[in-house]
Amino acid sequence: MNENSLKKSLSKLNIGGLRYFDSIGSTNDEALAWAAGKAEDLSIVIADEQTQGRGRLNRTWFTPKGSALAVSLILRPSTSLRPHLSQTVGLAALSIAEACLKLGLDPQIKWPNDILLKGKKTAGILVESVWSGEDVDSLVIGMGINVSKLSVPPEDMLQFPATSLEDEIGSEPKREEVLFNVLQAFIHWRERMGTDELIHAWEEKLAFRGEQVEVKTGSELPVTGKVDGLESDGSLRLKDAHDNSVIVRFGDVSLRPSA
Ligand code: BTN
Repeated sequence: MNENSLKKSLSKLNIGGLRYFDSIGSTNDEALAWAAGKAEDLSIVIADEQTQGRGRLNRTWFTPKGSALAVSLILRPSTSLRPHLSQTVGLAALSIAEACLKLGLDPQIKWPNDILLKGKKTAGILVESVWSGEDVDSLVIGMGINVSKLSVPPEDMLQFPATSLEDEIGSEPKREEVLFNVLQAFIHWRERMGTDELIHAWEEKLAFRGEQVEVKTGSELPVTGKVDGLESDGSLRLKDAHDNSVIVRFGDVSLRPSA
Protein backbone atom coordinates (compact mmCIF):
# COMPACT_ATOMS: atom_id res chain seq x y z
CA MET A 1 0.00 0.00 0.00
CA ASN A 2 1.30 3.45 -0.90
CA GLU A 3 -0.08 6.86 -1.83
CA ASN A 4 -0.21 6.12 -5.57
CA SER A 5 -1.88 2.73 -5.24
CA LEU A 6 -4.43 4.25 -2.86
CA LYS A 7 -5.19 7.20 -5.14
CA LYS A 8 -5.70 4.78 -8.00
CA SER A 9 -7.92 2.36 -6.11
CA LEU A 10 -10.08 5.13 -4.60
CA SER A 11 -10.32 7.21 -7.79
CA LYS A 12 -13.89 6.05 -8.52
CA LEU A 13 -15.12 7.34 -5.16
CA ASN A 14 -15.99 10.93 -4.49
CA ILE A 15 -13.60 11.50 -1.59
CA GLY A 16 -11.95 14.79 -0.53
CA GLY A 17 -8.19 14.92 0.02
CA LEU A 18 -5.91 12.02 0.88
CA ARG A 19 -2.89 12.00 3.18
CA TYR A 20 -0.88 8.80 3.36
CA PHE A 21 1.90 8.05 5.87
CA ASP A 22 4.29 5.09 6.03
CA SER A 23 4.33 5.68 9.77
CA ILE A 24 2.51 8.13 12.03
CA GLY A 25 1.61 8.56 15.70
CA SER A 26 -2.17 8.47 15.21
CA THR A 27 -4.16 9.10 12.02
CA ASN A 28 -6.93 10.60 14.19
CA ASP A 29 -4.53 13.24 15.55
CA GLU A 30 -3.45 14.17 12.01
CA ALA A 31 -7.08 14.25 10.84
CA LEU A 32 -8.18 16.42 13.81
CA ALA A 33 -5.48 18.97 12.97
CA TRP A 34 -6.41 18.87 9.26
CA ALA A 35 -10.13 19.19 10.09
CA ALA A 36 -9.40 22.23 12.28
CA GLY A 37 -7.83 23.73 9.13
CA LYS A 38 -9.16 23.47 5.60
CA ALA A 39 -9.78 19.75 5.04
CA GLU A 40 -12.57 19.05 2.57
CA ASP A 41 -15.50 16.84 3.47
CA LEU A 42 -14.65 13.11 3.15
CA SER A 43 -10.91 13.66 3.33
CA ILE A 44 -8.89 10.66 4.46
CA VAL A 45 -5.77 10.11 6.53
CA ILE A 46 -4.32 6.62 6.27
CA ALA A 47 -1.14 5.06 7.59
CA ASP A 48 0.73 1.81 7.12
CA GLU A 49 1.82 1.91 10.77
CA GLN A 50 0.71 3.83 13.86
CA THR A 51 3.13 4.25 16.75
CA GLN A 52 0.58 5.86 19.08
CA GLY A 53 -2.74 4.60 17.79
CA ARG A 54 -5.58 5.49 20.13
CA GLY A 55 -8.63 3.42 21.03
CA ARG A 56 -11.70 4.35 23.04
CA LEU A 57 -11.54 4.78 26.80
CA ASN A 58 -7.92 5.96 26.54
CA ARG A 59 -6.74 2.58 25.34
CA THR A 60 -3.83 1.98 22.98
CA TRP A 61 -4.64 0.75 19.46
CA PHE A 62 -2.13 -1.70 17.99
CA THR A 63 -1.18 -1.03 14.32
CA PRO A 64 2.07 -2.77 13.35
CA LYS A 65 3.54 -2.03 9.92
CA GLY A 66 1.89 -3.52 6.84
CA SER A 67 -0.79 -5.43 8.73
CA ALA A 68 -3.91 -3.36 9.26
CA LEU A 69 -6.11 -0.56 8.03
CA ALA A 70 -5.73 2.57 10.15
CA VAL A 71 -7.90 5.22 8.56
CA SER A 72 -9.43 8.49 9.71
CA LEU A 73 -12.23 10.02 7.73
CA ILE A 74 -13.12 13.70 8.06
CA LEU A 75 -16.78 14.65 7.84
CA ARG A 76 -18.04 18.18 7.52
CA PRO A 77 -21.71 17.69 8.30
CA SER A 78 -24.25 19.76 6.42
CA THR A 79 -26.92 21.54 8.48
CA SER A 80 -29.44 18.85 7.57
CA LEU A 81 -27.14 16.08 8.89
CA ARG A 82 -26.39 17.77 12.20
CA PRO A 83 -29.46 16.44 14.08
CA HIS A 84 -28.42 12.88 13.17
CA LEU A 85 -24.77 12.88 14.18
CA SER A 86 -25.42 10.37 16.97
CA GLN A 87 -25.78 7.80 14.17
CA THR A 88 -22.21 8.38 12.95
CA VAL A 89 -20.64 5.46 14.79
CA GLY A 90 -23.38 3.15 13.46
CA LEU A 91 -22.80 4.44 9.95
CA ALA A 92 -19.10 3.58 10.26
CA ALA A 93 -19.76 0.20 11.89
CA LEU A 94 -22.25 -0.73 9.19
CA SER A 95 -19.78 0.25 6.47
CA ILE A 96 -17.06 -1.97 7.91
CA ALA A 97 -19.59 -4.77 8.40
CA GLU A 98 -20.66 -4.53 4.75
CA ALA A 99 -17.03 -4.69 3.61
CA CYS A 100 -16.69 -7.90 5.69
CA LEU A 101 -19.87 -9.30 4.08
CA LYS A 102 -18.27 -8.78 0.64
CA LEU A 103 -15.47 -11.07 1.81
CA GLY A 104 -18.03 -13.80 2.55
CA LEU A 105 -17.90 -13.22 6.32
CA ASP A 106 -20.77 -12.85 8.78
CA PRO A 107 -20.04 -9.65 10.76
CA GLN A 108 -21.88 -8.45 13.83
CA ILE A 109 -21.76 -5.05 15.51
CA LYS A 110 -21.09 -5.00 19.24
CA TRP A 111 -22.81 -1.74 20.16
CA PRO A 112 -21.65 0.90 19.91
CA ASN A 113 -18.46 0.58 17.93
CA ASP A 114 -16.87 -2.86 17.52
CA ILE A 115 -17.14 -5.24 14.60
CA LEU A 116 -17.08 -8.90 15.56
CA LEU A 117 -16.42 -12.00 13.49
CA LYS A 118 -17.43 -15.22 15.23
CA GLY A 119 -17.63 -13.24 18.49
CA LYS A 120 -14.12 -11.81 18.22
CA LYS A 121 -13.23 -8.17 17.63
CA THR A 122 -11.90 -7.41 14.14
CA ALA A 123 -12.38 -3.65 14.00
CA GLY A 124 -13.03 -0.65 16.24
CA ILE A 125 -14.14 2.91 15.68
CA LEU A 126 -13.15 6.11 17.47
CA VAL A 127 -15.25 9.18 16.62
CA GLU A 128 -13.90 12.57 17.70
CA SER A 129 -15.14 16.09 17.00
CA VAL A 130 -13.82 19.52 16.20
CA TRP A 131 -16.06 22.21 17.68
CA SER A 132 -16.75 25.71 16.52
CA GLY A 133 -18.42 27.40 19.51
CA GLU A 134 -21.57 25.40 20.28
CA ASP A 135 -21.59 23.56 16.95
CA VAL A 136 -19.75 20.52 15.69
CA ASP A 137 -17.64 21.84 12.85
CA SER A 138 -16.33 18.45 11.76
CA LEU A 139 -16.08 14.85 12.86
CA VAL A 140 -13.11 12.53 12.60
CA ILE A 141 -14.06 8.89 12.28
CA GLY A 142 -11.09 6.69 13.08
CA MET A 143 -11.40 3.11 11.90
CA GLY A 144 -8.96 0.37 12.81
CA ILE A 145 -9.40 -2.94 10.99
CA ASN A 146 -7.29 -6.01 11.73
CA VAL A 147 -6.44 -7.29 8.26
CA SER A 148 -3.51 -9.71 8.59
CA LYS A 149 -2.84 -12.04 11.52
CA LEU A 150 0.01 -9.73 12.57
CA SER A 151 -2.45 -6.96 13.46
CA VAL A 152 -4.07 -8.95 16.26
CA PRO A 153 -2.72 -7.54 19.54
CA PRO A 154 -0.86 -9.78 21.96
CA GLU A 155 -3.04 -11.44 24.62
CA ASP A 156 -1.96 -9.07 27.41
CA MET A 157 -3.26 -6.03 25.46
CA LEU A 158 -6.72 -7.51 24.90
CA GLN A 159 -9.89 -6.47 26.74
CA PHE A 160 -11.97 -8.70 24.48
CA PRO A 161 -11.03 -11.66 22.23
CA ALA A 162 -9.69 -10.46 18.86
CA THR A 163 -9.23 -11.80 15.36
CA SER A 164 -8.30 -10.59 11.87
CA LEU A 165 -9.79 -10.85 8.39
CA GLU A 166 -6.93 -13.20 7.44
CA ASP A 167 -7.66 -15.49 10.40
CA GLU A 168 -11.33 -15.72 9.42
CA ILE A 169 -10.96 -16.02 5.62
CA GLY A 170 -7.82 -18.15 5.54
CA SER A 171 -5.98 -15.73 3.24
CA GLU A 172 -5.03 -12.08 3.49
CA PRO A 173 -7.33 -9.69 1.60
CA LYS A 174 -5.83 -6.63 -0.13
CA ARG A 175 -6.08 -3.62 2.15
CA GLU A 176 -6.91 -1.24 -0.71
CA GLU A 177 -9.88 -3.39 -1.71
CA VAL A 178 -11.21 -3.60 1.84
CA LEU A 179 -10.86 0.18 2.18
CA PHE A 180 -12.66 0.78 -1.13
CA ASN A 181 -15.59 -1.35 0.05
CA VAL A 182 -15.75 0.37 3.45
CA LEU A 183 -15.76 3.83 1.85
CA GLN A 184 -18.27 2.88 -0.82
CA ALA A 185 -20.67 1.61 1.86
CA PHE A 186 -19.98 4.70 3.97
CA ILE A 187 -20.90 7.05 1.10
CA HIS A 188 -24.06 5.00 0.44
CA TRP A 189 -25.23 5.01 4.07
CA ARG A 190 -24.28 8.60 4.79
CA GLU A 191 -26.96 9.70 2.36
CA ARG A 192 -29.41 7.74 4.51
CA MET A 193 -28.47 9.23 7.88
CA GLY A 194 -31.56 10.02 9.91
CA THR A 195 -33.64 7.35 8.15
CA ASP A 196 -35.19 4.17 9.60
CA GLU A 197 -33.41 2.29 6.80
CA LEU A 198 -30.02 3.01 8.36
CA ILE A 199 -31.21 2.12 11.87
CA HIS A 200 -32.73 -1.15 10.64
CA ALA A 201 -29.60 -2.16 8.71
CA TRP A 202 -27.49 -1.41 11.80
CA GLU A 203 -29.94 -3.22 14.10
CA GLU A 204 -29.96 -6.27 11.85
CA LYS A 205 -26.23 -6.70 12.51
CA LEU A 206 -26.41 -6.12 16.26
CA ALA A 207 -24.49 -8.72 18.27
CA PHE A 208 -26.06 -10.48 21.31
CA ARG A 209 -29.70 -9.83 20.22
CA GLY A 210 -31.94 -11.41 22.87
CA GLU A 211 -28.93 -12.20 25.06
CA GLN A 212 -28.16 -10.92 28.53
CA VAL A 213 -25.41 -8.27 28.56
CA GLU A 214 -23.81 -5.86 30.99
CA VAL A 215 -23.07 -2.31 29.88
CA LYS A 216 -20.61 -0.26 31.90
CA THR A 217 -21.33 3.46 31.67
CA GLY A 218 -18.58 5.63 33.12
CA SER A 219 -18.65 5.77 36.90
CA GLU A 220 -22.28 4.66 37.27
CA LEU A 221 -23.34 1.12 38.14
CA PRO A 222 -23.40 -1.24 35.13
CA VAL A 223 -26.74 -1.66 33.37
CA THR A 224 -27.84 -5.21 32.64
CA GLY A 225 -30.55 -6.62 30.41
CA LYS A 226 -31.28 -8.46 27.18
CA VAL A 227 -30.34 -6.71 23.94
CA ASP A 228 -33.63 -5.68 22.32
CA GLY A 229 -32.70 -3.23 19.54
CA LEU A 230 -31.88 0.37 18.72
CA GLU A 231 -33.72 3.64 19.22
CA SER A 232 -33.99 6.03 16.28
CA ASP A 233 -30.93 7.99 17.46
CA GLY A 234 -28.85 4.81 17.65
CA SER A 235 -29.10 4.40 21.46
CA LEU A 236 -29.21 0.79 22.65
CA ARG A 237 -32.46 -0.64 24.03
CA LEU A 238 -32.27 -3.41 26.60
CA LYS A 239 -35.10 -5.28 28.32
CA ASP A 240 -34.68 -5.63 32.06
CA ALA A 241 -35.85 -8.59 34.20
CA HIS A 242 -39.39 -7.07 34.34
CA ASP A 243 -39.53 -6.63 30.57
CA ASN A 244 -39.17 -2.85 30.87
CA SER A 245 -37.12 -1.03 28.25
CA VAL A 246 -33.85 0.47 29.45
CA ILE A 247 -32.16 2.89 27.06
CA VAL A 248 -28.38 3.16 27.06
CA ARG A 249 -27.06 6.31 25.45
CA PHE A 250 -23.64 6.81 23.90
CA GLY A 251 -20.71 7.84 26.03
CA ASP A 252 -17.85 5.98 27.57
CA VAL A 253 -19.67 2.68 27.50
CA SER A 254 -18.41 -0.87 27.15
CA LEU A 255 -20.69 -3.83 26.56
CA ARG A 256 -20.04 -7.50 27.33
CA PRO A 257 -22.10 -10.64 27.46
CA SER A 258 -22.98 -11.56 31.03
CA ALA A 259 -23.92 -14.86 32.63
C1 BTN B 1 -11.56 1.11 19.74
O1 BTN B 1 -12.06 0.03 19.44
O2 BTN B 1 -11.20 1.36 20.89
C2 BTN B 1 -11.40 2.14 18.67
C3 BTN B 1 -10.16 1.93 17.86
C4 BTN B 1 -9.94 2.97 16.81
C5 BTN B 1 -8.59 2.82 16.15
C6 BTN B 1 -8.42 3.70 14.95
S1 BTN B 1 -7.06 3.27 13.95
C7 BTN B 1 -7.23 4.72 13.04
C8 BTN B 1 -7.56 5.82 14.01
N1 BTN B 1 -6.36 6.38 14.58
C9 BTN B 1 -6.29 6.17 15.90
O3 BTN B 1 -5.36 6.56 16.64
N2 BTN B 1 -7.35 5.47 16.32
C10 BTN B 1 -8.26 5.19 15.23
